[in-house]
Parts: sequence; C-alpha cells; structure tokens
Amino acid sequence: MAATLLDGKLLAEKIRAEIAAEVSEFTRRTRVKPCLAAVLIGEDPASQVYVRSKQKACEQNGLTSHLHRLEGETTTDELLALIGRLNSDPSVHGILVQLPLPKGIDTTRVLDAVLPLKDVDAFHPENVGRLVQGRPLFLPCTPHAIQQILIRHQIPTAGAEVVVVGRSEIVGKPIAMMLMQKGPGGDATVTVCHSRSHDLPSITRRADILIVAIGRANFVTANMVKPGAVVIDVGINRTEKGLVGDVDFEPVRQVAGRITPVPGGVGPLTITMLLQNTLLAARLQTA
Ligand code: GUN
Repeated sequence: MAATLLDGKLLAEKIRAEIAAEVSEFTRRTRVKPCLAAVLIGEDPASQVYVRSKQKACEQNGLTSHLHRLEGETTTDELLALIGRLNSDPSVHGILVQLPLPKGIDTTRVLDAVLPLKDVDAFHPENVGRLVQGRPLFLPCTPHAIQQILIRHQIPTAGAEVVVVGRSEIVGKPIAMMLMQKGPGGDATVTVCHSRSHDLPSITRRADILIVAIGRANFVTANMVKPGAVVIDVGINRTEKGLVGDVDFEPVRQVAGRITPVPGGVGPLTITMLLQNTLLAARLQTA
C-alpha cells in the first residue's frame, strides 16, 4: 500500500491561523505590529520567489514586512551598515538575510552581525549555541517545520531511530540536535550521514524516521528506505520535470508508511515558523 501523504500545506494553514490569532491579540494588547525586515541582495530568481512568499505570509497573518533590496555588487561593509541600522531600529523585530549571498560577500560576518534578539533565522552563533545547550530562544525555521510535522501528526520520536541525510548548518546539524534533546519531538536516537558516509543504504534502512536534506534531486531511492518508515523530504530541486525533492517520490512512496510531498511538504511550514519567530521576537522586544 502506498504511503500516506504528510500534507504540509494543510498543516501550515492550521498553524498560520493559530499564529494570526496570537498576532492579533498581541497587537490589540500592545499596539505593536510584529515587523520583519527582509534583506535580499542580487538577482537570484529562487531567492526572489522565497522572499516574496515570506512577505506575503507576513501580510496575510497580521505582521508587517519591509524588503531591503540591494544590488549584487553591494560590499560586505555596506551590508553590515544596513544590518546595524536594522539592529537599532525599534520598529524592526526580526531580520532575515536571504541566503545564498553573492560570492563577494562574507556571509559569516553578515550573519554574526544580526542582533541575536532579532535573529529570526536562528543563524547567529549565540542562537546556535543556545539550541545545542537545549535552551533555545528561536528555533531555526526548517528544522522547526520538520519537528512540527512529526509532533502534529503524533509520530513518536522518543526512542525512534532517526537518520538525517545531510549535515548542513541550516537543516542537517540543527534538526539532529533538536531530535536528540529531551522532551516532546525529541528523545530520538539520531544518526547523521553525508556525502562521505560508507554504505549509505545500510544506514538509511535503519531509520524509523528518515530526514533527507542533501540537495540532490531524487537521491534517496526505494532500496534505501525501511518498509513503513516516515520519510521527510527537505529538498527543493529545479529540474526539467519541475520541482522535485531529494527523494525519488513515486518508488519510495510504495515502501514508506508516510511521506512529505515536494512541493507542499516542509516548504509551507518553514515560512510559518518564520512568522512564529517574528511574533516571538516582537514579544521579547516589547516589555
Ligand atoms: N535560503 C535557504 N534557506 C534559507 C533560510 O532558511 N533562511 C534564509 N535567510 N535564507 C535561506
């Protein structure tokens, strides 16, 4: 029997409605509208689409968003000056610098410059450190989206074998950290594998929950999946056949128990978690 779909779009709508209600209550009580400043540098078409989606989601749920568009030739110092202004602007609660940045820009210096209290991506080393220590301020959006899919579908993680394919700073490393923490959506036995791992299928086949964030179209094939496993596909790859994930969807669907589609799986929830972080940032900055 084919796997059940884990519908991220539906879940995102439900959580966005919850957030919109909280935003409305917060604004009524404080007269403050949570505000996200999005920074987009250069002309990368995918980044333009993502930033537009993030802004639209803000507007639809009662938050404000401002877009700061800089040309591709912007220097690191110019970008740092903008971040400095956003850091000290009390009307801005969250700052999002859309990645990847153009080649000439020092991404680490830029992300380190964002005030940790406004770091709604949770990329600043202080926020990464807090996550590792199990006392996060903000949770990074994509890992938080994955964890919410598991929690809200009552997929047990305690004691489960979770295998994460990919060790990126944005997804692989933080989701592994979150799933091994104590508490709801945690307590898992986590293995992280990557491009240098030996005999990947023998590792991935152990997974009760397989999380794939390797950035290669159709990378995970049916022989790599344990029958009945939960498969979370974080990939978004543009191919001549359109958008596909990192999981070879149709064959894997015949083996897995539950699976996220691409598009319509993790993606819509990632933006939802950004809204949640922007509301949290506004709360933390509004005494
Ligand atoms: N580019 C790809 N994913 C992300 C993300 O989560 N945040 C930002 N700022 N840029 C990205």
